[in-house]
Amino acid sequence: MERTLVLIKPDGVERGLVGEIIKRYEMKGLKIKELKSLVPTRELAEKHYEEHRGKEFFEDLINYLTSGMVIAMILEGENAIKCVRNINGATKYQDALPGTIRGDFAYKDTYNLVHASDCQASAEREIALWFK
Ligand code: CMP
Repeated sequence: MERTLVLIKPDGVERGLVGEIIKRYEMKGLKIKELKSLVPTRELAEKHYEEHRGKEFFEDLINYLTSGMVIAMILEGENAIKCVRNINGATKYQDALPGTIRGDFAYKDTYNLVHASDCQASAEREIALWFK
């Protein structure tokens, strides 16, 4: 069994999409092992997005993630990392296919509703960061 870290970002919470988003993971058979809501600190957001430090969108990204309530979850299932990323869809809203969360609901750069770990090492690092 594999575990992955999923965030429903402030736009997902603000737009009332939490139930719709979680339903899609559950329908795929993924199990929620931990779940909490919080407004991330700047320190947490910067650690989470460490690999993007220095990029031109970094400041906007940190301001966005710390702008409101976030739902953080650990999801578990076979090939959970790949399955969740498929359900989320491509990072850019214009590339995300219909039927994915971003394809169905995202319409603006950066504001892409959800985050999910991209590999085993990221999952371990991000789970440790969000669920100390
Ligand atoms: P996420 O999957 O959480 O990983 C990094 C985030 O940075 C991404 O979702 C987007 O919210 C944001 N992002 C990635 N690339 C860009 C970009 N080119 N311009 C603006 N925001 C971006």
